[in-house]
Amino acid sequence: MERFSSSVNFDRRLWRQDIRVSIAHVRMLARQGIIAKAEAKQLVRGLEQVGRELEQGSLELDPALEDIHTNVEQRLTEIVGPLGGKLHTGRSRNDQVATDLLLWMREEILQLRGGLLELRAVLVERAEREIDVILPGYTHLQRAQPVRLAHHWLAHYQALSRDDERLGDARRRMRSCPLGAGALAGSTLPLDRESTAAELGFEAPTQNSLDSVSARDAALELLAALSILMIHLSRISEELVLWSSSEFGFVEIDDAYASGSSLMPQKKNPDAPELVRGKAGRVVGSLVSLLVTLKGLPLSYHRDMQEDKEPLFDAVETTAGCLAILAATIRTLRVNAPVMAAAASDPMLLATDVAEHLVQRGLPFREAHQVVGRVVAHALETGVPLSELSRDTLQGFDPRLDFEPASFFSVERSLEARTITGGPARAEVERALEDARAVLEATRGQLEAAE
Ligand code: ARG
Repeated sequence: MERFSSSVNFDRRLWRQDIRVSIAHVRMLARQGIIAKAEAKQLVRGLEQVGRELEQGSLELDPALEDIHTNVEQRLTEIVGPLGGKLHTGRSRNDQVATDLLLWMREEILQLRGGLLELRAVLVERAEREIDVILPGYTHLQRAQPVRLAHHWLAHYQALSRDDERLGDARRRMRSCPLGAGALAGSTLPLDRESTAAELGFEAPTQNSLDSVSARDAALELLAALSILMIHLSRISEELVLWSSSEFGFVEIDDAYASGSSLMPQKKNPDAPELVRGKAGRVVGSLVSLLVTLKGLPLSYHRDMQEDKEPLFDAVETTAGCLAILAATIRTLRVNAPVMAAAASDPMLLATDVAEHLVQRGLPFREAHQVVGRVVAHALETGVPLSELSRDTLQGFDPRLDFEPASFFSVERSLEARTITGGPARAEVERALEDARAVLEATRGQLEAAE
């Protein structure tokens, strides 16, 4: 039962937060006259020593003491004697673990946002360099219309920027301090919850003692934000897997992030993106695991909730690793611009442009679509590319097709006509880049200020 019930092997990660929370609690007890000032001094000094021992790794943690909280208290009592028994005055491990966990998540979110910032910056740097690389944009994995590679990188940047916002939102809701809620019903002692909340960097104490020890939605929210982020990383990874295949040949992954096959000497496997794609499942699994753990738990604390930590720790660590590896993989990627350009060069990809030309001449879009459908069928039947059809042939389908085919079916012309907000024209992509650089700068400032 001891082994089964112990959590210290994983909740030891909370030791820094646990010491911090205990010191804030002890100081408050002294301010309120619940313990003597001299006692508080001794307890704080003892807790600082426990902290140093944990930092150095010299303190052996005993699984029989269940968790990090009891281990810290036990070691403190060894150091300061029976006075150590006053640490837990007006406190339960239920409000303690809830407070530790919120503090831990608040710190980890800043780290995660830092890692995410790096990846977003890599995408923006590539977009700056690759604004004139053209490739086909795809829908249904079919070549659809040409776009700039910069536009493509910035599409991923946008999704990841929303992830950053989501992490910030989740952190903003971790602003109330559960400490002082006790086991579930507060305390008869005159605790000053406002002051411990302030000392620990929270905005205010939580407003309901039952909810304080029962709530784990902050952890769920972080796991949900990480799951969505990992889905984005997985989709980017899937693209890199496709693009690095011989079938696409769009990119080559640096040897540092790929591996050879142990059997087939000619192969190079896209390990980094494959692993990121694989690990996305694990993070989503962590979210589902905690959702299911909490489902059906009445108020307030239950031992089931000790199972919140492993999925949470694993998801945070896994996501941080994926962010770093994917950033490095994309930073060192070699892009094969001629292959991309060739894939985007089929004039068929500009068939929509022809329809829109007719629309500008007053034809209803549905009719224009049919006219162009007939032109496309003709090109396919005769094997003559759209760009090489004569003007007469074109006007045989509709007299309003009065452009010079060779210049009309230019990828460059098509892109530059797409100056619409959010479109792939050069000027519009440059505007998007400027925007992205400003947002990254603001995020960097925000994270530095928060630390
Ligand atoms: N190890 C417990 C957890 O992580 C700490 C709180 C335990 N509370 C209790 N009454 N046993 O959830």
